[in-house]
Amino acid sequence: MDKHELQDVIEDLHGKYAPLIDGTVATYIPELGKANPKDFGICLVSADGRVFETGNCDQKFTIQSISKPFTFGIAIDELGHDKVFQRVGVEPSGEPFNSIQLETGTNRPFNPMVNAGAISVTALLHAKHGSSTFEHIRSKLSAAAGRNLEMDDSVYSSESSTGHRNRAIAHLLLNFGMVHDEAEEALDVYFKQCSILVTCRDLATMAATLSNLGTNPITGNHVFQHWCVKDVLSIMFTCGMYDYSGQWAYQVGVPAKSGVSGGVMAVVNRQLGVATYSPPLDRYGNSVRGIGAFTELAARLGLHAFDLMNSGSHFLDTVL
Ligand code: DON
Repeated sequence: MDKHELQDVIEDLHGKYAPLIDGTVATYIPELGKANPKDFGICLVSADGRVFETGNCDQKFTIQSISKPFTFGIAIDELGHDKVFQRVGVEPSGEPFNSIQLETGTNRPFNPMVNAGAISVTALLHAKHGSSTFEHIRSKLSAAAGRNLEMDDSVYSSESSTGHRNRAIAHLLLNFGMVHDEAEEALDVYFKQCSILVTCRDLATMAATLSNLGTNPITGNHVFQHWCVKDVLSIMFTCGMYDYSGQWAYQVGVPAKSGVSGGVMAVVNRQLGVATYSPPLDRYGNSVRGIGAFTELAARLGLHAFDLMNSGSHFLDTVL
């Protein structure tokens, strides 16, 4: 049988971007510095559950910031808009992910994709679920990935013992009443959620769950209500790549989220989940090979939301 065209494309991109040696592996969480800079995987999972992969798609790494859209989705799903948006905004900050800045006037973190916003969201979940919050988050992410995800104890301890900046952010949020009294406990859950181990294939499957309106297309497991997915994708689109988000929206044009361990996850609405894994990062904290491969993939497959091949709303087609 002939190889699928998509398989050819990702193998071609893997061959082209694997030799790129720019970027540096994150070491501010000491344990992350042990990653192999040569690891590189690309995986696509279609919204009907077909998997295309090449390179290191079985290598486990910690999810880090890619947990943020999922915890935001859980919070929106369970607590509703009003409660969540009292504690976090939806504006791109134009600042690095660990910026210690809050919105003027409201004192809310700018959005749920920067650390301050993600800590605020996790604190909302902690106020509801208490000591079972991490287990709840872990089980939701596992359902999106279609397998039982575990936590990396060493990365968790490494971040927990060195995360002074996040601790400062949590206490600033406490000062402004943006988190409940158990800020330390909520921060501990945040460190744990960042330390959940995934593979590139897991991330592509989690993205495919979002692209398939919240249902994992491989297991059929219903993870998020479809209206929450719209919220999650909107914020990923405007804020998911930190202070590179504008450039990404311009060049790649799909909702995405990156993490400091080298993962990038993107969602092509109703069509595809895509993930890359490669640890060396650029100055924004985004994977260098990931950015290269995604930029070319989007151009070659016409993934951009405003690509001339994307015809827009079928509903309008029927009424115009
Ligand atoms: O809060 C932190 O520093 C990490 N646990 C997560 C950061 C992260 O992945 C940001 N990404 N680019």
